[in-house]
Amino acid sequence: MAEFTLPKNSKINSKGKTNKAPAGATNVKSFKVYRYDPDSGENPRYDTFEVDLDTCGPMVLDALIKMKNEQDPSLTFRRSCREGICGSCSMNIDGRNTLACTHAIEDCNKDVQITPLPHMEVIKDLVPDFTHFYAQYASIKPWLQTVTPPPSGKERLQSPDDRAKLDGLYECILCACCSTSCPSYWWNSDKFLGPAILLQAYRWLADSRDEMTGERLDELEDPFRLYRCHTIMNCSNVCPKGLSPARAIAEVKKMVVERQL
Ligand code: SF4
Ligand code: SF4
Ligand code: FES
Repeated sequence: MAEFTLPKNSKINSKGKTNKAPAGATNVKSFKVYRYDPDSGENPRYDTFEVDLDTCGPMVLDALIKMKNEQDPSLTFRRSCREGICGSCSMNIDGRNTLACTHAIEDCNKDVQITPLPHMEVIKDLVPDFTHFYAQYASIKPWLQTVTPPPSGKERLQSPDDRAKLDGLYECILCACCSTSCPSYWWNSDKFLGPAILLQAYRWLADSRDEMTGERLDELEDPFRLYRCHTIMNCSNVCPKGLSPARAIAEVKKMVVERQL
C-alpha cells in the first residue's frame, strides 16, 4: 500500500476550544468549525461553537456571523451578498460543498461540521486560496472576443433563441463548489481546468456573438485541460445554483469532435 507523508501542520489536532452558549439558552445547536492559522505555527483544530438558535438567523452564515460577533472575533470566513449571488461563502458543510448563506441550519446534521472547500490551500480557517482557480479562469479569456466590427457600429444583438443558449451558464457565480468536489480536479488541478472553469469556457463558446470559437477550442483540446473529466458528475450534483458543469463539459467535447468531421 502506498504511504503518504502529510505536509507539516496538516494534521488536525484533536484539542479544540468549546465556546459555550449563553447561560439560560434553551435552543442550542453545536457547530464544529475548522480552525487554522498558519501564522500561529500550530496544527489545525476543530473548535466547537454552541449557538442559541432562538437569537440566530436561519442560515449557516447567520450562525457563523453570530459566532464571530459574540464568541470568537478571530473566526475567519468570506461572505458578501448573503443571498447566493457573490459566491464568497462557499465551504463544506456536513461533508458537502455549498454556500453558507443559502444553506439552512435546519437542514444540517444534529452536530454540524464546517470545513473549508476541500483540496485547496487554506489561508486561514474557512478561507481557501483562490489564486490558482482565478488564474485558470483568466486563462480561458472570459470575455466577448470579436474580429468584425458590430453591424452599423452599434451593439451586437442576439436572437431570443441564441440568448437562451446562455441559460444555465451565465448564472455561475464561480464559487468553486463544483471544482473542489471533483476527484479529477483534486489530483490534477495543476493542468485540468475543472468543472467551473470549463463551464465558463463553454459559456463563451455558446455565445452567438463570439468570433473566437476555433481559437478557444484549440486552447481546450488537450489531454489534461479538458479530457481529465471522466463524467463522475459530482460537479452537477453539488452546484448550489442548480447548474450542470458536466453537461457543459460534454458540450465542449462534442464541439471538439464535430469540428473534425
Ligand atoms: S458551476 Fe455551480 S458550483 Fe460550479 S462554480 Fe459555478 S455556481 Fe459554483
Ligand atoms: S463530471 Fe467531470 S468535472 Fe464533473 S466531477 Fe466528474 S470528472 Fe469532475
Ligand atoms: S455571501 Fe454571497 S453567495 Fe453567500
